[in-house]
Amino acid sequence: MKGIILSGGTATRLFPLTATTSKQLLPVYNRQMIFYPLNTLIKAGIKDILIIVAPEHSGQYLNLLGSIFKKYSINIYFEVQKLPRGLAEAFILGEAFIDKDPVTMILGDNIFEKDFAEEIKNFKSGGLIFAKKVPDPERFGVVKFDENNKAIQIVEKPKDWISDYAIPGLYVYDNRVIGAAKQVRPSDRGEIEITELHNFYLQSGELMVSTFDGEWLDAGTFDTLLEAGNIVRDKKIYENFDPIINQAIEEFNAELKALAKKRLS
Ligand code: DAU
Repeated sequence: MKGIILSGGTATRLFPLTATTSKQLLPVYNRQMIFYPLNTLIKAGIKDILIIVAPEHSGQYLNLLGSIFKKYSINIYFEVQKLPRGLAEAFILGEAFIDKDPVTMILGDNIFEKDFAEEIKNFKSGGLIFAKKVPDPERFGVVKFDENNKAIQIVEKPKDWISDYAIPGLYVYDNRVIGAAKQVRPSDRGEIEITELHNFYLQSGELMVSTFDGEWLDAGTFDTLLEAGNIVRDKKIYENFDPIINQAIEEFNAELKALAKKRLS
């Protein structure tokens, strides 16, 4: 299983914070936001992770994540997405990296309380996505279930209500996703939409949609960014980090301190 973190975009709603750094490098309590999706992938045992970033922030990602997991045999690769052309583009940009394997993609601004390791490890083929009841489904990709809890319809940001179940930014697909992504045409908002890929698997009866418990946070506005930090602190979600991440960060901090000391002497 390969892992992709889509961490580009312009995050205009967070200007001026995102004029100087990437949204996914902003702090959520005691860590940069990107460590949360990294945790989801590392906990699932994924060793090869591609981080897709916007060109203006690539250096910052390299400085933070370029080598901190090396001794843990977790390989981090980077790819630049020049323009935010849509979530499905991740699989086109990541084609050579994904190679012949299945892939789990997570958005760099999605934070989950739940550990999805079992679901990801048990994945065999087709597509696996998740769903959670929300009060504002029109903001998301949405899935409608029939009376037997079978997914029957998926729509990106439906104008007319179809369901309260939003699809968060965590997707597991088999290798056919690369070919499917190449077929997607831009939507009215000019993006190649991830929902088209869900529909590709839904149409052939190979899409699993699983509801889940626990917090799901995306930190796209000042309020939700602040709220995410508060929830992570109050619910102690920061305690859920894989030991590899905690150790890697401790070592990184020690290295930074040693370098700072050298500069002073
Ligand atoms: O958060 C879950 C939702 O994410 C899903 O329910 C939707 O189906 C999905 O389309 C997406 O909706 P948004 O409209 O909220 O996506 P947004 O444009 O905010 O992008 C999500 C993250 O991905 C954001 O942090 C920026 C990054 N991104 C986005 C695009 C379009 C990229 O890195 N590259 C891109 O091309």
